[in-house]
Formats: sequence, C-alpha cells, structure tokens
Amino acid sequence: MQVFEQWESNIRAYSRTAPTVFSTASNARQVDEQGKVYIDFFAGAGVLNFGHNNPRMKRAIIDYIEHDGITHSLDMYTTAKRAFIQAFVETILKPRQMNYKLQFPGPTGTNAVELALKLARRVTGRTEIVAFSQGFHGMTLGALACTANHHFRKVSGVPLNNVTHVPFETHQGGGLDNLATLHSLYSNSSSGCELPAAFIVETVQGEGGINVASAEWLQAVQALAHDLGALLIVDDIQMGCGRTGSYFSFDGMGIDPDIVCLSKGIGGFGTPLAMNLLKPEHDAYWQAGEHTGTFRGQNISFIAGREALRYFENEEFNTQTLERGAMIRQHLQKIAAHYPAHAFEVRGRGMVYGLDVGDVDIAKAINKQCFDKGLLISLCGVGGSVVKIIPPLTIPQEDLVQGLDYLAEAVAAVMQFRENAYAERYLEIHHG
Ligand SMILES: Cc1ncc(COP(=O)(O)O)c(C=O)c1O
Repeated sequence: MQVFEQWESNIRAYSRTAPTVFSTASNARQVDEQGKVYIDFFAGAGVLNFGHNNPRMKRAIIDYIEHDGITHSLDMYTTAKRAFIQAFVETILKPRQMNYKLQFPGPTGTNAVELALKLARRVTGRTEIVAFSQGFHGMTLGALACTANHHFRKVSGVPLNNVTHVPFETHQGGGLDNLATLHSLYSNSSSGCELPAAFIVETVQGEGGINVASAEWLQAVQALAHDLGALLIVDDIQMGCGRTGSYFSFDGMGIDPDIVCLSKGIGGFGTPLAMNLLKPEHDAYWQAGEHTGTFRGQNISFIAGREALRYFENEEFNTQTLERGAMIRQHLQKIAAHYPAHAFEVRGRGMVYGLDVGDVDIAKAINKQCFDKGLLISLCGVGGSVVKIIPPLTIPQEDLVQGLDYLAEAVAAVMQFRENAYAERYLEIHHG
C-alpha cells in the first residue's frame, strides 16, 4: 500500500475505508493480494450490476478483441455500437413504446449530466435549472452546480450559478405542497424567480442517502416542469439499468422524461459508458459535433453492454432483483428493530437499500467493522450517516445472506461497544 500512500494524490477516498490492495474479483466477491475474500455490497457505486467479470461479458469481450474488433472510434460507426443500439431499441425502447434518440457523451455520469443541462438550456433558451436537496449529479462544474453536497461544492473554486435547489420529496419542506408553492412562484412574473430550463431529479437519491420518491410526486414534478415550459431530466445514472427491479427506475411511474441520463451499469462490465436518451424534438437542436469528447465510442463497453441487455429480454431477472431486495429489506428491518431507541430507518427499492443510523460516527464504525469481517459497503446521506447496500444484482443468494449476517454482526459490535463506553463513562461520572 506504501506505493499508493507515497505517490497517489491525497484525494484518495474509498481506499482509506478499504485499506487493502485488491487483486481479483468474481461476481459479488473481491479478493485482496493476501487472499482475503470480501463480499461486495458496493458494486463500484452501482456500476457492477451484473457482477465482477461477468462470464458472458468476459467471453464476448475476449472474442471481440481476439477478432481485432475496433476499440476506439470516437463517434464513428462500428459493428459493436450498432449491435448495442439495436439491442437497446428492441429490448428496452420498443416494448415501452418509447421514442428517444441516443447520445453518447464522454463515458462518465457527469458528462451525461453536462450535456443534458446544455441541451435543456439550448431548447428553452433559459439558463436556470431546478435541482433537489441532497441530489448528486457529478463533479464537473455544470453537474456540480446541481449536486447539493457541500463537501463537493466547497472546492469548486468558482461560483456554482444558475441552479436553484428545492426540497426533495422526503426532505423537510418537500412534497406536493411545496411543488404547488413553486408553481405559483414561477407563474408569478413578479416573484423574482427566473423560469427554469429544466428540473433534474433522481427517483431514488443514491449518494444523497437512499431517499425514495413516490410516483405521485414525480408526476407532479413533471407536470410542474411542463407547465412552466421546462424539460424533465431524470438522472438514472445510479438507479437505472435494473437496479430498482425494472430497467428504468421510473418504469410504471407514469412519467415520460424529456431526457434520461444513463451511465454506470449501462456498460455492463465496469468499463465506462454513458448514454443520454433525448426526445427527438429536442435532439433536433443539436448540430453536428457541437458537444464532443474523445472517449465516446466505448466499443468494449458496447460489447459488454449488449450482453447486459440480455438480462432484460424477459422479466425473470427483474423478478429476482425484487425478491432479493425484499430479503435485504427484511434483514435490515430486523437489524433496525434491535435498536428501537436509536430509531434506525430502512429505505430503498429494488436492490438498493439504506440503513440510516442517524449518526456519522456509528455509520463509520459499522463500515470499519464490515471491512474487517470481509464485507464492502459504503456510506451515503448527509455526512455519511446512511449505510448503503447496493450489491451486484447477480449476487448469489448465499453471498447475500452471508453479507447481511456480517452487517448485522458489525452493527451489533458497534452498538455493544457504544453501550459499554456509555456505561463506563456513566460509572466514571457517578462513582468517580
Ligand atoms: C445519480 C448520479 N448522477 C451522476 C453521477 C456522476 O457519475 P460519474 O461519477 O460517473 O461522473 C453519479 C455518481 O455517483 C450519480 O450517482
């Protein structure tokens, strides 16, 4: 590890809570160079929906490279891209009767968000964006302006302008009443509020703490956006590609976004890819090459991403995700019920869950205990007080159970330690 500590930037973050050197991985298990096995409830922050080194994808990638397939192509046409587009249209768009153009920006989520914002501003001729409290949309300046977290915003170096943050449904002041207030404010030409180009929303806030929006609220956000002549952008970068038990996190919710941002799981294998879905009437505003980027044609990701789409050819995989998710919920609720005085909260949908322990120190201690036991998790929410469970969707049942058992043991150890420390302190104070 000394090499990293000596040479790699101070910015290192995840490696500080998982201080080991990983060498191999398969499905939901990662192995470090000492041979210690970790169950992965982190899945590359929602990238590895189909597990590490998914065998079908690995085979397809190896075959493609062995046949000298094109690796890098900017936005030129390739057989790999065509096969991906055709599969996406047939498997995802057509059954939903969705009509979108596909745009491939640079391969990270923040790239996708940047171009969604740029297009919404272009289409409407407006500059303002409405984003939500605790929302997370990326680190480049436009996306960062939409990201709510102070920890990231404070190092922007320039003002993060042209975005108004309003309360997410489940946050204080949020909900339908708040949207009605916004409607009357924006409709009043003397309210001082500039009409927005777009509303950008996550249906389940991932980094923000696994905050789950209702269909009713999302419909009201869409209605508000459209009443004001603004676009609805759904950032499905973390919650899309099967994570919530349907391909899009908003499937069946009665909304029809103008732009959908996808990344993370779309490339299937963990190799980068981003893709925006644009309503054709909005796409018509783009002129050739106006938003470019060297790493757009990620052919290895197209090859793996095409394989990933096979999971959605029928409902079997989604059904399994929902069943496994129900199991996660049950386990977390059992853990929470053990500590009624602490009012732990369980939130989530599909196979993404949060155990909100309401205390950053408790959450950090749980994270450490998990790591020591051989379980990789991450923290999210304000300051990191929510334990996030986002395993590969392909995780074998026994690994899921084992990981949940580790988590329960970790929580028990931390809570026992705190009780002991509290008792010791009580004795110190009261008995000298
Ligand atoms: C909802 C959402 N949007 C955007 C991003 C940014 O993606 P990237 O880190 O690939 O730029 C993330 C990353 O976690 C995300 O969860």
